[in-house]
Amino acid sequence: MNRRDFLTRASTFISAGASGMLLPKVSFANSAKSFKDKVKLQMPPLLDVQSKGAFELTAQPGSTNFLGTSPTQTMGFNGSYLGPTLRLARGSNMARVHNSIDEITTIHWHGLLIPGDQDGGPHQPIAPGESWEVDLDLDQPPATTWYHSHVHGRTSYQVYQGLAGVMQICDGRDRDRGLPDTYGVDDLMLVLQDRNFDSAGHMLFTESMMDTMHGLTGSTMLVNGQVDAVATPPKGLTRLRLLNGSNARVYTLIFSDRRNMHLIATDSGYLEKPITIDEIRLSPGERAEVLVDFSDGNRTVLMYKNNAHDDMMGSMSGSDHSMMGSAQATKEDAFPIIPFQPDERVRATIDQIPASFDASGHGEMGQPSRTREFTLNMEPMAINNRPFDMERINENVEQGAVERWIIRGEEMPHPFHVHGAAFKVVSQNGKAPRPEETGWKDTVLVEDESEILIRFEHLAGPEAPFMYHCHILEHEDAGMMGQFTVSPKII
Ligand code: C2O
Ligand code: CU
Ligand code: CU
Repeated sequence: MNRRDFLTRASTFISAGASGMLLPKVSFANSAKSFKDKVKLQMPPLLDVQSKGAFELTAQPGSTNFLGTSPTQTMGFNGSYLGPTLRLARGSNMARVHNSIDEITTIHWHGLLIPGDQDGGPHQPIAPGESWEVDLDLDQPPATTWYHSHVHGRTSYQVYQGLAGVMQICDGRDRDRGLPDTYGVDDLMLVLQDRNFDSAGHMLFTESMMDTMHGLTGSTMLVNGQVDAVATPPKGLTRLRLLNGSNARVYTLIFSDRRNMHLIATDSGYLEKPITIDEIRLSPGERAEVLVDFSDGNRTVLMYKNNAHDDMMGSMSGSDHSMMGSAQATKEDAFPIIPFQPDERVRATIDQIPASFDASGHGEMGQPSRTREFTLNMEPMAINNRPFDMERINENVEQGAVERWIIRGEEMPHPFHVHGAAFKVVSQNGKAPRPEETGWKDTVLVEDESEILIRFEHLAGPEAPFMYHCHILEHEDAGMMGQFTVSPKII
């Protein structure tokens, strides 16, 4: 199916929508409140386990009043929606995860470089009422990673309901690097998610054909599970850690006054030196860390800026001011994510952008020993024409190997994620990657063709293999996923 057929087919779904199917109305009018009426952005609660090396999480049902109208049913870890931010150090970290929801769940540590039997993928289900204990043996450079449910076929639903949280791997040396690290003060976590609500304030999870095809997007922004909050950084240099925790939406982020962001880290850790940018693209699952200078004390708004692809998709998303298949301006061209109001009373701890960081700690990539090619298929959803099958191992790699992977996507951009390994993006559609795609990564947005070099250091046997998949969670659940083992090197 080419792009044109796709549009034609999608228009059929739109007409279906017009004739009574429930479609969310797109309106990003949540900035009507003046700044002083907005509530301060809260961070997810911090669970610092750097010295203890042990933590407990309980997946539990909850009720959350996002819009101030009425509460809606949600899920969270140790709370009603999302989970605590874990700060972890290298070495042993004993995790005990209890399942108090009424369906199977799993907990996958997205971005941790650990063996397959610790990974928490679909082969490590936790039945209702049961617990899973695992010792996470961390040996990787500092990075912002995250955890989320990964039950095959239910990931989209469980993550949408709130089963996700942040993990920050720390080595205690950020001050030496010249970086702010005071959680919630000069080191802010921003979990970006879009959701739909009905007029009564109930969160709406939908599974229409269109939601599955395009991925489920929402018309209300949540930042750390909050609607319509204001971030209050110090009046100075602030560290923002961004996580795209959305099911399907790709964000291109800019500040309303086009102020710079100094990119310091991507998915798997620090860059060698900061890169100055004024927009950043994050697809589902990706993280980035930036330093932003708020010393002018001015308000500014972090905005979603459309790109060509979203123009096309945005115009199909049921918005009443959209025209089918045209790239005309809609309200979705740009909308506010969250305003920033610098707080004079908060002191910034750094006054300059560090010039460079000590090498990332991942070492050198090395030379690839072989090439594998993957095509992400839409019809049916599959990889290399094989829809995901729990019983089939798709690939076997050798521990210590470096490989060149070429990934192609059909019909629309797909965020491709690999468990248990870090990679570097060599090229995107034959060109150099964007700044936020340099450095070590575990997820990359595949438009037409991405080329990566990937290194496998951790073992995964056939009983707990690693996954590779599209991080549009509806695509993943529908079969755009494969699994691989990592075997010991035969000498
Ligand atoms: Cu973040 Cu396999 O997932
Ligand atoms: Cu993962
Ligand atoms: Cu996809």
